Amino acid sequence: MDRLEFCRNLARDAGRFAHTKFGQVEASLKGRHDVVTAMDHDVERFVRSAIAARYPDDAIIGEEGGGHAVGSERVWLIDPIDGTANYARGIPHYCVSIGYLEHGVPTVGAVHDPSHDWLYSAARGDGAWRGDERLAVSRCADLAAATIECGWSTRRGTADYLALVARLLVAGGAVRRVGSGALGLADVAAGRSEAYCELHINAWDCAAGILLVREAGGHTNNFFAGDGLTTGNPLIATNAALCAELAEVIGMPLNC
Ligand code: IPD
Repeated sequence: MDRLEFCRNLARDAGRFAHTKFGQVEASLKGRHDVVTAMDHDVERFVRSAIAARYPDDAIIGEEGGGHAVGSERVWLIDPIDGTANYARGIPHYCVSIGYLEHGVPTVGAVHDPSHDWLYSAARGDGAWRGDERLAVSRCADLAAATIECGWSTRRGTADYLALVARLLVAGGAVRRVGSGALGLADVAAGRSEAYCELHINAWDCAAGILLVREAGGHTNNFFAGDGLTTGNPLIATNAALCAELAEVIGMPLNC
């Protein structure tokens, strides 16, 4: 079984497992507005042990269990539940995200949305897919007609987030925030929104989604530049027509 097929099956199994406790688990806080549940840990253990059994030499980094990739050419990035705050409150907008990088380049990724049983997947050079439907980014070239999801966390300051939203609104865009970076990126890949941006996001949230967007014909900044893999970076993901203008409007360089 190749890594794409393995990754697709694993994301689907993990998503279905996560859904068995949807809206039924107690939430606690890792930090301010940073929710975790026992299922985040259980799902991550499930995914980690499958990867370790199949690819014992690959590095694994997960949101809950950490890990490192020093000197490793093959790295898996797991977000066992992306959108945990939604998951814990019974809001059906969350997913399991599994990305795989080779030599620092997103190569395979799968995102499973258990509420719809939708499986998004991509392999470098092979397109992005939801099930067997090929995905393509929106062709909208007018920022004033664009819908942009602005991810939010307490890792960056309130004033900076408000400034980001204000710039987009002044440029005429519609702004939303739905609470799962990975599904926000899948929406861009599927042409359901024009862009996703966030001042800081972690690699496990976006490794698979970045590949979905790129393989659906979209563009992203160079998220894995510098320490992006281990400490996160800003993120812009959109189509080719909007990329440069969007980056300028929000003042986010495309090379990081
Ligand atoms: C968060 C979500 C959120 C994004 C944050 C992430 P979590 O992940 O993806 O939409 O804006 O940056 O931390 O905590 O639900 O796994």
